[in-house]
Amino acid sequence: MRKIYVFDTTLRDGEQSPGVNLNTQEKVEIALQLERLGVDRIEAGFPAASPGDLKSVSEVAEAVKNSSIIGLSRSREQDIEAAREALKKAEDPCLHLFLATSPIHRKYKLRMEKQQVLESAEAAIRYAKKYFSKIEFSPEDAARTELDFLCEVTEMAVRAGATVVNIPDTVGFMTPDEFGNIFKTLRENVLGIENIQLSAHCHDDLGMATANALAAIRNGADQIEGTINGIGERAGNTSIEEVAMALETRKEFYEATTSLKLNEIYRTSRLVSKLTGMAVPGNKAIVGSNAFAHESGIHQDGMLKEKTTYEIMSPETIGLKESKLVLGKLSGRHAFSEKLVDMGYDDLNEEQIKEAFKKFKNLADKKKNVSDEDIRAMLVEKLVSTPEFFTLERIDLSYGNQSIPKATIRIKTKEDAIAEETQEGNGSVDAIYNAIDKATQEDVTLEDYAIKSVTHGKDALGEVHVVLKQGDIAVTGRGVSTDILDASARAYIDAVNRIIDKKNSDHVNKRGNITLI
Ligand code: KIV
Ligand code: ZN
Repeated sequence: MRKIYVFDTTLRDGEQSPGVNLNTQEKVEIALQLERLGVDRIEAGFPAASPGDLKSVSEVAEAVKNSSIIGLSRSREQDIEAAREALKKAEDPCLHLFLATSPIHRKYKLRMEKQQVLESAEAAIRYAKKYFSKIEFSPEDAARTELDFLCEVTEMAVRAGATVVNIPDTVGFMTPDEFGNIFKTLRENVLGIENIQLSAHCHDDLGMATANALAAIRNGADQIEGTINGIGERAGNTSIEEVAMALETRKEFYEATTSLKLNEIYRTSRLVSKLTGMAVPGNKAIVGSNAFAHESGIHQDGMLKEKTTYEIMSPETIGLKESKLVLGKLSGRHAFSEKLVDMGYDDLNEEQIKEAFKKFKNLADKKKNVSDEDIRAMLVEKLVSTPEFFTLERIDLSYGNQSIPKATIRIKTKEDAIAEETQEGNGSVDAIYNAIDKATQEDVTLEDYAIKSVTHGKDALGEVHVVLKQGDIAVTGRGVSTDILDASARAYIDAVNRIIDKKNSDHVNKRGNITLI
């Protein structure tokens, strides 16, 4: 079996999903889970984009020991220097340089001739080679680049010292046949190609990112790049879990495999979904909630007789276990700790288990049975927290369908001061948000509000995601509770805390204003 390297860019291309804004602590949490999943390479961010990005890459580099950590960089010295600084503490650092090569990008974005592109990229690789033994070079928009020029660029990159050449289908324009042919052509025509690894980086604009990545593998790619749940710029990137499971399920066909611990897929997917606020569609391949659900009578009958009639993969392979231990309010700390280990949370310290158990007991008081999903939601909420400038103490609400909703909110500040405000609104949530605005005195705009049920039934946990804006800063906030109004208030306060945190640490992400040359 040929090994296919997995390069995860959830923290870089994935974070470029509109509305997604992860803080450093969340990035480290995701990176540690990616390491547990067995990802070979983690692209932690774009250090030159902002001081906040540099700090996040640096903290990820310090925390992760078993995956190579990568920083993205334009082909210019100041970006390379920022990446050098950010990757100082990495066990196995790698620089990812890029420069666009397609006629459209050369003419309109770079205003460069082919020769200038070649020279700029070569100068950047040679400069970077003084500091990095591992360099990946990406000819951005490679898929729309003239094939003979792409061969020339790749040969230059090999000569200059790149260790990986990545072929991005930046705008998701390729069909699998065309994309596969690029890899075949490079393998057959580029001098020294056997000395480097070839990588595929696909976008999903036409829904072909996974098929294109697999076509690249069939035609000689050594590495695939992608994100968890396929998140990313516009329609997203290749879903890593889809490629890994396609290779696993169709191994006789592809004769290739990854080093991923497949049973960590589900947990990774849910962590990324929670922290990014991007819900996984029910029908999403591999990790959607319906991916292993059978509705039709004929299918259910077939499943009961023999699972392989309608299932080509088993849910256990991706770490989806049937709950064996049902937890409720009479369960003790021992059963709860066992459950955490069973669910893969085997690295929590005593303090974290104590905190989680307290939260579990509160939840069990309100809910008859606490499911795995409830615990997962609760843990993400508890273990990845934002600095709490404001905490919710109490909500009182008056609502009637013939009267104006009124909310009284009591909030505690970091300095233990209490702010209590009463406000009306054109709905209960609106009244709550008006009261929070008054109490926190933060001038914010609600850009988005989404609510979903974490589990089923009347006593299900409700999860609310909000997007708040203040000036240049846009953040997501989340709140989980058995009551959706309580969850709504918590999500809003979480977002206000994130805005204050961002203002304090002055790491407004300026990526949006950067011209990528
Ligand atoms: O899609 C793309 O071209 C990229 C590059 C920076 C590799 O993300
Ligand atoms: Zn990309």
